[in-house]
Amino acid sequence: MGRVTPTVLVAGIDAAGGPAHPALAEALAGAGLVVGAARHLAAVPVPPGCVTVVLGPLAPALDRLAAAVAAGTPAVVLASGDPGFFGILRRLRAVGLPVRVLPAVSSVAAAFARAGLPWDGAAVVTAHGRDPRPALNACRALPAVAVLTAPGAGAAELGAGLAGWDRRLVVAEHLGTPDERVTWTTPAEAAATTWADPHVVLSLAPEAVAGSAGMRADDQPAAASAGGWALPESAYAHRDSMITKAEVRALAVARLRPRLGRLVWDVGAGSGSVGIECALLGAAVLAVERDPDAPIRANAARHGVDVRVVTGAAPAALAGLPDPDAVFVGGGGVDVLAAVADRRPPRVVVALAALDRVAPAVHLLRAAGYAVDGCQLAAARLADLPGGSLRLAATNPVVLLTGELPSARRKP
Ligand SMILES: C[S@@+](CC[C@H](N)C(=O)[O-])C[C@H]1O[C@@H](n2cnc3c(N)ncnc32)[C@H](O)[C@@H]1O
Repeated sequence: MGRVTPTVLVAGIDAAGGPAHPALAEALAGAGLVVGAARHLAAVPVPPGCVTVVLGPLAPALDRLAAAVAAGTPAVVLASGDPGFFGILRRLRAVGLPVRVLPAVSSVAAAFARAGLPWDGAAVVTAHGRDPRPALNACRALPAVAVLTAPGAGAAELGAGLAGWDRRLVVAEHLGTPDERVTWTTPAEAAATTWADPHVVLSLAPEAVAGSAGMRADDQPAAASAGGWALPESAYAHRDSMITKAEVRALAVARLRPRLGRLVWDVGAGSGSVGIECALLGAAVLAVERDPDAPIRANAARHGVDVRVVTGAAPAALAGLPDPDAVFVGGGGVDVLAAVADRRPPRVVVALAALDRVAPAVHLLRAAGYAVDGCQLAAARLADLPGGSLRLAATNPVVLLTGELPSARRKP
């Protein structure tokens, strides 16, 4: 008979306050090593004399676990909620430790339960140990988002970043413990409050608060829209043909590289079609437009996406807006482009009908450190002729410029 490889028991501590898995007490009683955060070690019966490692830094704990497995010493790892959901299991597997997992209710499931809300279709993102901006942009883009937080990247910081977006926040601190506190609040109140760690934040648009969840019908919050993009102009209300044509929009949107976690500005948004298609691809979108009657909100609602509209003339209207990952400049002069370049977004896409603006725009972007390329697009669309013949109908030519900032010149 071969030797049975000892496994590390990875047990979740229930974030809804439920009892520990019955197998945990037995495993602890026979354990030679128990690893966990101080609060988890205090929550379970670790036998006297058993070696414990308090997390903290993970690397030394992983070494101790590997040594325990090699020596055949029974080891237990305590983790919050479901260890396989944004948890320690990934790191244990990455170093090749053999594991047996006892999951418990996750903090995300517990937070939605405490809020009395369904959460199938909600997006779950983490600000733990990484740049928190993608998590913030997910909250701006999607109606129901749960954020796992870290000190310095929690409810206060998310609240500050959500100023101007129509959101309610649920902050769930110390779930499943006697110190549990669940608070419904506004982004502004959250920004002005000190919150205890650990906590989870739910970011909810009005339709999600109403309990209709407000998720996309296909329950794929981060998936590209089923209806595609580069949609015909007829898919948008627009005035006086103030809309980026589908063929130009296709390339512009591709070059903006929208995705969940990124923020796109659509400056001189007109109908909002470019920004709306970025939102359909998961990005958070800010549309800046001086005409208060522009149909951006109605178009966004028609396509089921959340676009924040800032009514005002650029460049003044750009002051104070959160830093973008990409900017589409569909309207405005060189002064607007200069103000955009000053913010150093990684990508800028400019659509120009007037040829005299092309060279100044290229020079301005190059002087700001952008690598620029561009092309002229003049689609000729199929059209019917009487008698069943076909012809080509020209659309107006447009020059599309793309500026890409080398990573070394980007904001940290
Ligand atoms: C590394 S993640 C672990 C998530 C865990 N696997 C789960 O299923 O809940 C750590 C984050 O989870 C959240 N969290 C974990 N336990 C919590 C609790 N009891 N109350 C509130 N938030 C908690 C916090 O946002 C914390 O920073």
